[in-house]
Amino acid sequence: MTANRHIVPVAMTGTGMAVPPRVVTNDDLSKIMDTSDEWIRQRTGIEERRHVDEGVTPSDLALEASQKALAAAGLKPTDIDFILVATLSPEQFFPGTCSFLQAKLGLDTTPGLDIRAQCSGFVYGLEVGQALIASGQYKRILLVGVEIQSVALDMTDRGRDTAVLFGDAAGAVILEPAKNPEFGIRRVITRLEGKHTDKLGVVYPSAVGGRWIKEEHLKTAGHNPYMDGRFVFKNAVSRMPEVINEVLKDQNLGVADIDLWLFHQANLRINEYISLGMKIPPEKIYNNIHKYGNTSAATIPTLLDECVRAGRVKPGDKIMMTAFGAGFTWGAALVVWGA
Ligand code: COA
Repeated sequence: MTANRHIVPVAMTGTGMAVPPRVVTNDDLSKIMDTSDEWIRQRTGIEERRHVDEGVTPSDLALEASQKALAAAGLKPTDIDFILVATLSPEQFFPGTCSFLQAKLGLDTTPGLDIRAQCSGFVYGLEVGQALIASGQYKRILLVGVEIQSVALDMTDRGRDTAVLFGDAAGAVILEPAKNPEFGIRRVITRLEGKHTDKLGVVYPSAVGGRWIKEEHLKTAGHNPYMDGRFVFKNAVSRMPEVINEVLKDQNLGVADIDLWLFHQANLRINEYISLGMKIPPEKIYNNIHKYGNTSAATIPTLLDECVRAGRVKPGDKIMMTAFGAGFTWGAALVVWGA
């Protein structure tokens, strides 16, 4: 591998995750909208997802995931000197979810910010976190990906094309300077193509053209996600391999050198299509879409946490993480496991 472009190697020293206990199966959805277990399973690989109960907020899920990650790293909240929260489903329009999480962690003036890069938010967070540590200004960063998407979905026939896809979850990692320079984040590449904002998103509330959120917007489902599924699919299956290949090339690695592949979990068919094309052995890919659906910015940290806790990663393993989402945003990160 070539030397890391960044001066300070940054390791993940703890991981954690949280999902709400309420399981919503495909059959449950087929009772409230015109869909079926067969349609959802065949097209997406999703079998069930988790939805929060009323009153649970993103910072609640983020807190649980953060506490587990802190415990895994042997740290307490006051050891953290910066917080990054990646989310597309914020606690409020403003202030950012980070403020709510920071208070729940019992912190006084620890700084932090939200990252709005949708399903690629965690990969963007790795890039930002690494840069903040490499700058020498911060030593311990809590990076969280969290989503409560169930509350934004249109649970009627009208919203079935997106309502069946998304779920709620949080995943967290602690970033610290690596003690062993061979370990840690080797390379992150992020990309954005802003001209496709009309293909996937949620419009309201919005500060554009004098509209914010009005009664008529609620009637037209402007506060629910819109998506051109086929267009998104086509872009996802070309953009993720493209950026993976950029990272591999940058690090003088080939597909066979990677020990574990963590793909964004938007649709199992997307991941199968890519892995077939890139000749990635299925046993090196870990998916959890069947259990949780698409959990957007929470996806990669939950995949990672499940792999870490199942003993699927050992020091020195090369992990490739990749994501694609609204914006369009996408990216890939190569991490050598260990601290
Ligand atoms: N249940 C049953 N039928 C449904 C349905 C549902 N939940 N949602 C849509 N349909 C219907 C459509 O109305 C359409 O019916 P028609 O042929 O009578 O018009 C038919 O199923 C096919 O719809 P289409 O949208 O063309 O399906 P598709 O094969 O493209 O699959 C997705 C839909 C969403 C699974 C797929 O496009 C996809 O995964 N896209 C990428 C999604 C993604 O990555 N999103 C997030 C990025 S972070």
